[in-house]
Amino acid sequence: MTNPGPRIIAVSSGKGGVGKTNFVANLALFYASLNKRVLILDADLGLSNIDVLFGIAPKFNLKHVLKGEKTIKEIIVNGPLGIMILPASSGVRELTELSDSSRLKLVAELDNFDMPFDIFLIDTGAGIADNVLFFCSAAQETVVIVTPEPTSLADAYALIKVLSRDFGEKNFRVLVNTARSEKEAFDTFRKLAIVADKFLKLSVDYIGYLPYEQHVKDAIIAQKGYIAMYPNSAFSKKLAVIGKRLIENPISDVKGNIQFFLRKALRVK
Ligand SMILES: Nc1ncnc2c1ncn2[C@@H]1O[C@H](COP(=O)(O)OP(=O)(O)OP(=O)(O)O)[C@@H](O)[C@H]1O
Ligand SMILES: [Mg+2]
Repeated sequence: MTNPGPRIIAVSSGKGGVGKTNFVANLALFYASLNKRVLILDADLGLSNIDVLFGIAPKFNLKHVLKGEKTIKEIIVNGPLGIMILPASSGVRELTELSDSSRLKLVAELDNFDMPFDIFLIDTGAGIADNVLFFCSAAQETVVIVTPEPTSLADAYALIKVLSRDFGEKNFRVLVNTARSEKEAFDTFRKLAIVADKFLKLSVDYIGYLPYEQHVKDAIIAQKGYIAMYPNSAFSKKLAVIGKRLIENPISDVKGNIQFFLRKALRVK
């Protein structure tokens, strides 16, 4: 079998605060527990970042790479279970206004980045800001997280619409978070699927749901992943099913390439 390269999955949402960072952190822990080499790109501009969740404090971030002060390898930090984190939340905003010389430096820097990974997860932040759209369109597939709230659905639809209309994206997977039952989750998904089909002629994929669980917040306070603290909870079991589904059924047959992804996402082609 040919090497398919790493799986490159962006996790996004229309509305903020729907559980992207929490999902990415726990999914990374799940894959790491299967001995997969995981890299997380933390491009979330929100308050509760991956580093807060894992209790690490990266000294450097993408901004230092853009200034030519550090290499990508030098800013990557180690999280639990060998998970690697590329801290980009500071620096992402600057990406849209890079000078030509910084752009060239970044290209050279990306060409030197050759660490091997099996799974590359991107926590993109919410909404339809350029950087979110670039990260999603460069990934092999995008997981859009929604909650049963109507505003979350409307914002998810807006994100899918812009990505499909302006970037030709067709591969969307929908995860319903904080649902109170399987039925509520599927009804939520169906509402989104119906409008995507009707107005965008797009079929979106349901990858499952995660229940609302009170202790998810405690796990953040303890700075451990929830699945590590409560491996037998409904949340952890469902997360494992979703994680397996994601790796066993890739939507895209394009070979994953992290350098290519970064060039495309950072617009330094
Ligand atoms: N399934 C869940 N059950 C209970 N609480 C949850 C669940 N998922 C996420 N949360 C909580 O919801 C809050 C928002 O989650 P998170 O920070 O992951 O969202 P986000 O989408 O990354 O937000 P932002 O858009 O600000 O980056 C956190 O306090 C988190 O602990
Ligand atoms: Mg977040």
